[in-house]
Amino acid sequence: MFAVEDRAVQIAWAWLPSSDMTIEIGDQRLEVGIAPPAWYREARGGRPVRVQGGQPLPARAGPGAVTVGGLEPSTTYDVCLKGPGTPRTKVASATTLPKPPGRLLARFASISDCHIGERRLGLFNSLHDPRPRPRGMVPYPTRCARAAISEAESWGAELLVAKGDLTQKGTADELYAVIDIFRSAAIPVEAILGNHDIRGPLKAAEVMSSCGFPVSREPRARDLPGARLVFGHSPVPDLHVGAVSAPDAAAMARLARDTDGPVVVVMHHPPQRWLVETHYPPSISWPDSTRLVSGLVAANPATLIIAGHTHRNRRYPVGGLTVAEVGSTKDYPGQWAGYSVYEGGIRQVVFRVAEPSAIAWTESTRRVLGGIWGWWSPGRLSDRCWTLEWPNRVVAAS
Ligand SMILES: [Fe+2]
Ligand SMILES: [Fe+2]
Repeated sequence: MFAVEDRAVQIAWAWLPSSDMTIEIGDQRLEVGIAPPAWYREARGGRPVRVQGGQPLPARAGPGAVTVGGLEPSTTYDVCLKGPGTPRTKVASATTLPKPPGRLLARFASISDCHIGERRLGLFNSLHDPRPRPRGMVPYPTRCARAAISEAESWGAELLVAKGDLTQKGTADELYAVIDIFRSAAIPVEAILGNHDIRGPLKAAEVMSSCGFPVSREPRARDLPGARLVFGHSPVPDLHVGAVSAPDAAAMARLARDTDGPVVVVMHHPPQRWLVETHYPPSISWPDSTRLVSGLVAANPATLIIAGHTHRNRRYPVGGLTVAEVGSTKDYPGQWAGYSVYEGGIRQVVFRVAEPSAIAWTESTRRVLGGIWGWWSPGRLSDRCWTLEWPNRVVAAS
């Protein structure tokens, strides 16, 4: 059970016993079972083997995900699976989230850490697209990002927010590839830069801005019905740690104060939770984090901070505010987040990117760091799916 909303859930699987399975939830039946793409490398007996398109596919079907709508809020459902040789078996249960208070006012989506231009992954660069790539296949960061945007649009997002590390090295080719992706979106795009974007010799902000995507380091705001988005700049050249200068923190607090409603602050780096950093890559430095968060709390206690950078899903309080990290589109589990803005709160739901060639890639990245990545990155359901009732009451999925 990867995601729960008030009226929908997303079920994801690493594999199924056959490609002819049925999932039952409530009174709905879904035929599922996706044969893995021909290039999908599946680990068997510890050795990666290629599943050839022309050869018989393995009995079991590849990774996939399906979103099931039409459910009732605050209701627990059994999820059952059946198919050839598999009797009807309960495999999971799901409890939908309650509906947040008031009317639904707006929906937006976020993507993070697309790293367009990355070619390989893993300690020994052992994970990569097939070489040569099959005709028509675009590199994995691009197909994951495009699929995430397409699925966010289908979900109903009216705005896309890209939270930095758009590129791997900030080169011209990579930046123009990002611009190409954003231009193909059917909804407006707001973007900020990450540490990877400012690695290159180019001024990424100037390139992006000249193509219609303003990513200047000065804080800025965009108002949606029911919430103001405030965008901040946190990357530092040649460093993984983030920083927010005193003038930037003051400007962000001003933007949070000068609005009647709640605020969602969008950063690449999250603020640091503890005095001592407990994970890698590092967040915004401790002094900058405390200054930023205390300024925001004083300016507008109905503030949520959303970030990327860590390629993992987490939710935690910092200085009285809720902070949500959402992982990368292209690393296991491969995700985007949908935000529903209500009169009385905001709901975050993190979905796996479900397009078959994207999820086949992200599933293969589960084994990075000897499999630790597959355990570390997804976070708990309560990290991914929750409602924040303004100013600071969290109702999380469980
Ligand atoms: Fe990143
Ligand atoms: Fe980053």
